[in-house]
Amino acid sequence: MGKNAIEVRHLKKYFKVLQKETGLVGSFKSLIARKYEEVQAINNIDFTIREGELVGFIGPNGAGKTTTLKCLSGLLYPTSGEARVLGFIPWERRPEFQKQFGLVMGQKNQLWWDLPPMETFTLNKEIYEVPDGQFQQTLKRLVRLLDVGGILKTQVRKLSLGQRMKCELIAALLHSPKVLFLDEPTIGLDVVMQKVMRDFIKEYNREFKATIILTSHYMDDVRELCERVIIINEGTILYDGKLQEVVNRFAREKIITVVFSSSIDQRKLAEFGNIREYEFPKAQLTVPRTEAAKKAAKLLEEFPVADVVIEEPPIEAIIREVFTGRMKPFQKPK
Ligand SMILES: Nc1ncnc2c1ncn2[C@@H]1O[C@H](COP(=O)(O)OP(=O)(O)O)[C@@H](O)[C@H]1O
Ligand SMILES: [Mg+2]
Repeated sequence: MGKNAIEVRHLKKYFKVLQKETGLVGSFKSLIARKYEEVQAINNIDFTIREGELVGFIGPNGAGKTTTLKCLSGLLYPTSGEARVLGFIPWERRPEFQKQFGLVMGQKNQLWWDLPPMETFTLNKEIYEVPDGQFQQTLKRLVRLLDVGGILKTQVRKLSLGQRMKCELIAALLHSPKVLFLDEPTIGLDVVMQKVMRDFIKEYNREFKATIILTSHYMDDVRELCERVIIINEGTILYDGKLQEVVNRFAREKIITVVFSSSIDQRKLAEFGNIREYEFPKAQLTVPRTEAAKKAAKLLEEFPVADVVIEEPPIEAIIREVFTGRMKPFQKPK
């Protein structure tokens, strides 16, 4: 068991936003008496992440993911609560801390738009005081892994989104951070490029024992990379634990796919469960989780079956169910 890399206790971040009243009268009124509304972006969250863990941080838009990562990177002061990243209080912004983490935001650039990526890399080398030898070695390795040797001298604005994201990653990694916050690093990328990024993240985690928090809307990212997920909604943590356990705990149904060897009576099939799809010879049914095995056996008994498979519903669907609020906020027992 390693040490804790990240500790978050009772963290809150509320934003005050000016309330807008509609119409002209409203505009005057708000000039005179400004009314503020409070947005509870993160509302009392707790979690601990061990060194070397790669954790998925998932939730719908506006859940509070980016706000959390900004607090952990020291870009925002929280309203109250505590956090430690590698023992540092992030918002104190100590130089020793700045050198040990990296932040990549899929929707924001740190690369200089009008300059080639290499210029930003060199600038970061100076900012983070990376020694020459180490810089050359890390750069060479990253460039090879991400296959961007040919574009280092091209103006960033002329690069494709995928090329740009790869260079964003390099810029964030040149100082070899031990902790990495990846906020939607694959957003907008095509499937092939998503896979490249994913493989790279996995590799970086493994090779450097880096601690990584990853947010993504793509469940493929989460499924492939994260054994553990933290699910957040409306600023509150709904779940913290194994991804597989989300399935066990929240999926109430299973999917049976069956292939028939000759024609069947569809009405009779409907008695077995909800027919999701039926196009002879293949049908898909959803059945209550606990009855899946029994139903499948019965299908085999009563129909001419060539093949039958029982599966979990897609993780996307299960997580959506977690969000729709049938669940009480859940905290992993300490
Ligand atoms: N600078 C800000 N000022 C006011 N409200 C903000 C600000 N940043 C985020 N919020 C609000 O806080 C909530 C959480 O936002 P965010 O952390 O960006 O969510 P996520 O990254 O999960 O989509 C949202 O309601 C958002 O509108
Ligand atoms: Mg966000």
